[in-house]
Amino acid sequence: MEFFVDTADLDQIRESYAWGIVDGVTTNPSLIKKAVEKLRKDGSSLGIPEYIENILRVAQGDPVSLEVIGLTAEEMYSQAMTLYERFNPIAENVVIKIPVNPNMGDNPEHAFDGLSTIARLAEAGIPVNTTLIFTPEQALLAAKAGAAYVSPFAGRVDDDLRKMAGETFDKTDYYPADGVEGRDDNGIESGVDLVARCVEIMEIHGFETQVLAASLRNPRQVRECALVGSHVATIPFNVLSAMAEHKKTVEGMKAFTADIVPEYAQIFE
Ligand code: E4P
Repeated sequence: MEFFVDTADLDQIRESYAWGIVDGVTTNPSLIKKAVEKLRKDGSSLGIPEYIENILRVAQGDPVSLEVIGLTAEEMYSQAMTLYERFNPIAENVVIKIPVNPNMGDNPEHAFDGLSTIARLAEAGIPVNTTLIFTPEQALLAAKAGAAYVSPFAGRVDDDLRKMAGETFDKTDYYPADGVEGRDDNGIESGVDLVARCVEIMEIHGFETQVLAASLRNPRQVRECALVGSHVATIPFNVLSAMAEHKKTVEGMKAFTADIVPEYAQIFE
């Protein structure tokens, strides 16, 4: 299973790469906004293109997803080519992120523009990460169009199910905490369930498309995504950090450190 870090914050990307467990990076317009706000707050005038180039270099040739912002096939294809031609030569690691369906409610005539763009890019040999996947059917369509990755948004599915049930919850709470009886979105019972169904479809039908579990909120969700066979998980920096933690690990470290006898410590001098 691969781990991508879900951030556009260069400090977080650098730090998580130094941990030796990261295989790629995913960004989106909201993550870029956050990173740029931090950059400006720190007084840096570095341009976004140069900032993106730095991300690509730090990722050491691993896939970095960059998202288009257009809403029509024509715009998305042209932006994908702009991103790919401008940035892929830096480290040969650009993956283009395309929404599965760019319809924002008032442009239904463009509902299939994401898919047709994916098909065109796949034909040209450009890897695509299909974003905003909320149903296995959308994942199936993206795989048929030739996407390299499909990104089911596990955390946002859970947010929605809990909202539908009128629950109050902390964003990082694992869902479902107490079972899911009578709660589903057209047969999908949780974010992890969506990831599992996407994995099954890719495997049953032999698609090469990888399932990239996205919108993850807590370590347990990463665990469950691993258990259902997700090929990749893109993990926010805070969740990645929390994955190494357990109170008994801290307790054990303290006890072992307290028990070091001088004769043993001398070996390392
Ligand atoms: C990554 O590819 C997605 O854009 C990201 O995981 C979305 O996460 P969010 O639902 O926490 O915004």
